[in-house]
Amino acid sequence: MKTITISGFEASSETLADKQLAQSLYDEGAVIMADVLLVLHGAAHRARRGLELRVFRRDFSRYYEQVVFPATLAQTIAPYEQQGHADLMELGYAVTLNLTADFAGIDRPRRDADETESLRRVVMVFSEGATLVHSTRDRNAVREEVRAALAEFDTLFYQPSLARRRVLLARFAAREIGENELPRDVLTVLLQNEDRVELSPDLMMREIAFYLQAGSHSTANATTHAFHDVTSWCAAHPADAARIATDRLFLQRCVHESLRLHPASPVAWRRPVCPVSLVGGEQAESSDRVVVDLAAANRDTSVFGPDAGDFNPHRGLPEGIAPWGLTFGVGVHTCLGRDLDGGLLPRANTDPATHQYGIVPLLVAALLDRQARPDPLKPALRADHTERPNWGSYPILLQAPSARCA
Ligand code: HEM
Repeated sequence: MKTITISGFEASSETLADKQLAQSLYDEGAVIMADVLLVLHGAAHRARRGLELRVFRRDFSRYYEQVVFPATLAQTIAPYEQQGHADLMELGYAVTLNLTADFAGIDRPRRDADETESLRRVVMVFSEGATLVHSTRDRNAVREEVRAALAEFDTLFYQPSLARRRVLLARFAAREIGENELPRDVLTVLLQNEDRVELSPDLMMREIAFYLQAGSHSTANATTHAFHDVTSWCAAHPADAARIATDRLFLQRCVHESLRLHPASPVAWRRPVCPVSLVGGEQAESSDRVVVDLAAANRDTSVFGPDAGDFNPHRGLPEGIAPWGLTFGVGVHTCLGRDLDGGLLPRANTDPATHQYGIVPLLVAALLDRQARPDPLKPALRADHTERPNWGSYPILLQAPSARCA
């Protein structure tokens, strides 16, 4: 088996779009990831993605951003405001977990801090399992932890959520309730189409667990990276700091720049489904591994300029290049949460009052509105359980809006 690494921006985009290359980054994390959407290929992937896409229609992302997010944020951030400090990784997880749980179809009937904490604990274990390929820990020990977390999730969260949806679907079938009274989430869509996609009970539970971890892990990491990049930039560029406080479109541009520099996974792995000729002519066999170096592609100086490795929200972008580069992927596995998290790209006639900014820019804006700043007495630490360049803890100080000076 040989490993072929692709790192230029154009070559990486084309490689990700090649339909003869299948996902292979998550083979090591099969304990949770086996047969979930992200690892499927061909017709099976098309069928399941087509169904689950129904939850991600644009009007729904907008509804989430404008209605669900402000309420979830206010509820989740209140205890941190009161105590005046937070670990941003923990806070980011708590906010995004509640949002992704709604998307995935996991009920939290109590909606209190203990319940969020139980869910956060199991989802953090799922994330470690999914990214096992980059783990620095004993892999079998992590697998055992994932099995235990899945069992706990099944009993505490999944079975009650499943039962409630089955009752609602039965009432819908009996015409006792209308379609608009059904939850709009991945679990409901899968249950409504059980005859169209083959999913064992265990796989359906892991598919939902995958959504929870895919949504919250990447969002919490992206938020912390963006907060760090934006506050560091503001410290060195006071004029931009003033602009960021009032110009939400510019803040969104800053977050997109940060997303480019910190893809959720620094690499994508693919396995040829048959012998293929790669971009550039190299031949790859079914036993080979094709590594797309997303982090390098996103810093390609021929596309993003000579300072491509730096954070610079004023950089010019070539026509047709997304400001976040390849961070949300390209091709059949393109991230389903892209618009939800990154928002829409502004156009010349965009109205800032109604624009869809995305959850990550809005979370960073909410932190800045609360005067959030890195805690000078507790330096942030890099995560040591993974080779991924993520933050492990990021202590911040923040104020409740009412505690601020006028
Ligand atoms: C900043 C946050 C996020 C980043 C950087 C991110 C990144 C990615 C990337 C790179 C992929 C493709 C992986 C590959 O091609 O190998 C992906 C797939 C996916 N993402 Fe995200 N993601 C984020 C947030 C979310 C959220 C919030 C959700 C759900 C609510 C989500 C759901 C998914 C799903 C379901 C897939 C699989 C799509 C498929 O295989 O067809 N992601 N994401």
